[in-house]
Amino acid sequence: MSLIQIKVPATTANLGSGFDTLGMALSLYNIFTINEILPEDEYKCKIFGEGAFSDELKDAKKNLLVRSYLQACEEFNISPKGFSFESCNAVPLNRGLGSSSTAIVAGVALANVLSGNKFSESELLRVMTKIEGHPDNVVPCYIGGMTVSCWDGESLRYVRLPALPKNLNVIAAVPDFQVHTEDARKILPESVPFRDAVFNVSHASILCAAWAMGRWDLLRVGMEDRLHQSHRAKLFPGSTGEKFLREINNHPDCVATAISGSGPTMIAIVHGKAGELSKAMCRIFSDGGAASHFFVLNCASGTVISPC
Ligand code: HSE
Repeated sequence: MSLIQIKVPATTANLGSGFDTLGMALSLYNIFTINEILPEDEYKCKIFGEGAFSDELKDAKKNLLVRSYLQACEEFNISPKGFSFESCNAVPLNRGLGSSSTAIVAGVALANVLSGNKFSESELLRVMTKIEGHPDNVVPCYIGGMTVSCWDGESLRYVRLPALPKNLNVIAAVPDFQVHTEDARKILPESVPFRDAVFNVSHASILCAAWAMGRWDLLRVGMEDRLHQSHRAKLFPGSTGEKFLREINNHPDCVATAISGSGPTMIAIVHGKAGELSKAMCRIFSDGGAASHFFVLNCASGTVISPC
């Protein structure tokens, strides 16, 4: 028997210049189905699709959805229930498409549903961000669209921008190797030159203003970054990362490109047909010795919770 279904989108964070700030929901989903309410502290799960063989996902008590549910219950001061659930995963794991955020968002949203929907959107997002540590995946994952978020470790502010227009798609080229966000954060420098900080402030600001005003011609320049991508490109085999940022940006069909979140998926915003650009992206991975596959996605709405 199914009780509640939670459909949660993938996300692409940073969008180049907007490190830990910008993020967009994408039309690729993990679907979590709660089948049964069980006595407190009893959890069961079945995993299908991505991560079906991962011990961490299969062990219900270690599963991030359950851990996030329990943390949310503690934050909200509510008594946790036990439950059994199925997770049908289409979002690749540890590839920079927000798979962890889908579990965090589902766990916190479930705590809210099972306690009678007492908590506001901003209260839920604050707890989701606290669990994730940064807001740029969980905010678009929960509310959808393109979002700008600001987190100081306690308070969260966020604004949803208009969705990417239908004639612009997002190609996500996903290689067959993984990068853990923790490693991709460790590789970043402790400090950056002042001029690079100014570069990112101005480019992320232009990106947000352009997005709000529909100035899609400014996306490429707005997504340029000097804070994180050149460091993270070193986590890619050979010089795949640098090659992407250089060559894909110059492809005639590419509107703008970036490392998706902490990588290693690369995204490119494309206008019109996506075939040639998708092939070019996968070719760069195969030249670097990595197999890859790609998705052509739209900007998506947020999490949908439905009673079954
Ligand atoms: N903003 C985060 C980072 C996103 O780049 O580390 C991780 O998905």
